[in-house]
Amino acid sequence: MSFKINSYEDYKKQYQQSVENPEQFWSTIANTFSWRKKWDTVLKWNFDEPNIKWFVNGKLNITENCLDRHLATRGNQTAIVWEPNNPNDDTIKLTYHQLHQKVCEFANVLKNNGAKKGDRICLYMPMVPELAIAVLACARIGAIHSVVFAGFSAKALADRINDSACTLILCSDEAFRGAKTIPIKNVVDEALKNCPSISKNIVLKRTGAKVEMINNRDVWWHDEVKKVNSECVAEEMDSEDELFILYTSGSTGQPKGVVHTTGGYMVYTNYTFQNVFQYNTGDIFWCTADIGWITGHSYIIYGPLLAGATTVMFEGVPTWPDAGRFWEVVDKHQVNIFYTAPTAIRALMACDIDFVNKHQLSSLKVLGTVGEPINIEAWEWYHKNIGKTNCPIVDTWWQTETGGIMISSLAGITPSKPTFATLPLPGIQPCLVDAAGNEITENNVEGNLCIKFPWPSMLRTTYGDHNRCKQNYFSTYKGKYFTGDGCKRDENGMYRITGRVDDVINVSGHRIGTAEVENALDENHLVIESAVVGYPHDIKGQGIYAYVICAKEVNEQELRKELLEHITQHIGAFAKPDKIQLVSGLPKTRSGKIMRRILRKIAEGDTSNLGDTSTLLDPEIVKEIKNNAL
Ligand code: WT7
Repeated sequence: MSFKINSYEDYKKQYQQSVENPEQFWSTIANTFSWRKKWDTVLKWNFDEPNIKWFVNGKLNITENCLDRHLATRGNQTAIVWEPNNPNDDTIKLTYHQLHQKVCEFANVLKNNGAKKGDRICLYMPMVPELAIAVLACARIGAIHSVVFAGFSAKALADRINDSACTLILCSDEAFRGAKTIPIKNVVDEALKNCPSISKNIVLKRTGAKVEMINNRDVWWHDEVKKVNSECVAEEMDSEDELFILYTSGSTGQPKGVVHTTGGYMVYTNYTFQNVFQYNTGDIFWCTADIGWITGHSYIIYGPLLAGATTVMFEGVPTWPDAGRFWEVVDKHQVNIFYTAPTAIRALMACDIDFVNKHQLSSLKVLGTVGEPINIEAWEWYHKNIGKTNCPIVDTWWQTETGGIMISSLAGITPSKPTFATLPLPGIQPCLVDAAGNEITENNVEGNLCIKFPWPSMLRTTYGDHNRCKQNYFSTYKGKYFTGDGCKRDENGMYRITGRVDDVINVSGHRIGTAEVENALDENHLVIESAVVGYPHDIKGQGIYAYVICAKEVNEQELRKELLEHITQHIGAFAKPDKIQLVSGLPKTRSGKIMRRILRKIAEGDTSNLGDTSTLLDPEIVKEIKNNAL
C-alpha cells in the first residue's frame, strides 16, 4: 500500500511531512481504508482537558476493514493460524472467509443474548480462536470489549467488570497452560458473586471439565451458535465511538480502564504494523503476547488483520513441553516475522542451546521485542541464535495508552542500535523534559519522556473517570502527554528507554503498580503496613521486593506462604513478591511519606550510599532494614 516506507530517505520525508502537516499526512493514510462516510475534520485536540478527536464524524466499522474488505482479494488466504497448547493436537487455520463467517455468527449470538451497541462485554478466556472471534464480534455490533488477562484473580476480574458495568461475560470451562489446566469458569463464578451488572455468561468448552452451569445466567457457546445464522450487517460506528477498554496499572490506586476509539486506532495499528515489521503480502506474522494485553489487541488481532496478513495465535507457553517450543512453532508454520518480549528471550537463553539448534529457523526475516528494555546480552543472543545475524531486530517502545508502536526502527530500513528503540515513527513527536519540566532540546541527554502532539491511536480517556486521565497523563507537564518512562537520547537523536520513573514496575513484561500490591498486602489481617519496590531481576527484568510490618509475633514461613496466597487471590500469581522482608518500621519522612528511594537502593543491594537520611523520622530503622536485607 502507498504508505509503506521503503528507505531511510523515505522515512525522513514521511516524518517531516507528518510534523509539518499532520492532518494531511494522516488523512492520506486514512483514505486507504473503507469508510461508510469520510470525516469532516481530521483532528481536533487539546491536551488540557484532554479532548482528542481524530477523523471527526467519519463513519465505519473496523471489522469491515479487518474482514469484509479482504474477501474479494484474499478470501481463501489464512487469516489466523492457531497453534494449540499441546503440540500433538491439531492446528486450526481460518481463512478470511471462514473468520468473517464465524465473527458474524458470534455477533448474532451476542445480540441474541441481549448485547447491543455501547454495551461493555468482558472476555476472560484462553488463547483460542474463539477469543479473537469474540473480540471482532463485539466490534461488529458496536459493543465495547474489555478483555481481562486470564491470569487475574476473581477479585481483580470482578473489579474490572464492575468498573465498567459489563453486562455480558465470555469465558471457557478451563484453560490449558503448559502442563497445567486453569479453572477459568470457577474464577468467573467467584467473581460474579459480586458483579450485579452481568446478566449472561457464555461458556466455551475447551478442556471438557465438568463445570456448574447456573440457570438463566450461564449458556454454552456451542448451543448458542446453533441458534443463529452467519449473516450480520456491521453496525455503523462513529470514528470516535469506543472500541475497547483495557485495564492497566498506574502508580496509584486501582487499575484504570484505558479507552481506545475506532477510527484512529484502526489507522495507526495498521500503519505501524506494516511499517515497523516491513510486512509483505504473504508473510506469516507471529506475536507471542496474550490477547489480554495491548500487544495482543494491536498486533495479533487488529494490525495484522487490517493488513490482510496471516497472524499466528499460540495457546501455550515457551517452555512446554520443552524450551524449544517457540522455535518448533516457527518452523512448523514457517513464520517470517517473530515478535516477543525480552523476558521470554532471557528465559530461553538460560536453557540448553540445543533447544534452538534442533530447528532451522530459516523462514525468519524480522525479529521484534516489546514490553521492557532489552539488555545487550539478550539482544545479542536473539540476534545471533534466532536471527542467525541476518534478521533486523525492532525494539518497539509503546504502551497500553499509546495503542500502537511509537518509537522503533523500521526493520532493515532505518538504522538500528542494540538496546535502543531508536527513532520515533512518523506522526510521533517525543520530547525529553528535565525535573523542572523544561524541554531538553540538545542531544546526549536523559530526561522524562513526553509526547507533544496527538497521534491517532492515543487513549481518549480512562473509563468513567476523565479527571483521572487528565491527572495521570496530562498534568505533570502542561501541554504534554507524560509516559511515565525515563529515557536517554544519544548524540544522533536515538532514544533508549531506561524504565519507569513512577511507582510502576515491570515484571516479565507485566505492568504492576506497587500501590496495588501494597493495598493487597495491607488488607491481610497480619499486616500493619507494607512498602513495595522493584529490583533488577535476571530473567523477569524486575522482581518485586516487599517490606512488611507485621501485627504480632508470627511464624515467618507461614506468613510468607499466607501473603503469597493472598496476592494470588487479590491480583494474580504473576504479582507475587519475589522477596518479603519483615521489618519493624519503614523509613518515613517527618510528614509520614515513605522514602522509597532508600528502599529501592536496599532492594538493589546497593547500600553504600543511601543518600541523605537526616530528614527521616527514625534514621535507625534504615540500619535494621539494611542489615536484614534479603
Ligand atoms: C511500559 C508499558 C505496549 C507494549 C507492552 C507493554 C515498558 C514497553 C518497551 C521497550 C523499554 C518498554 C515501558 C512502558 N516498555 N516497551 N521496547 N523498551 N521499555 O505495555 O503494559 O502498557 O507497559 O512498558 O516502561 O511505559 P504496558
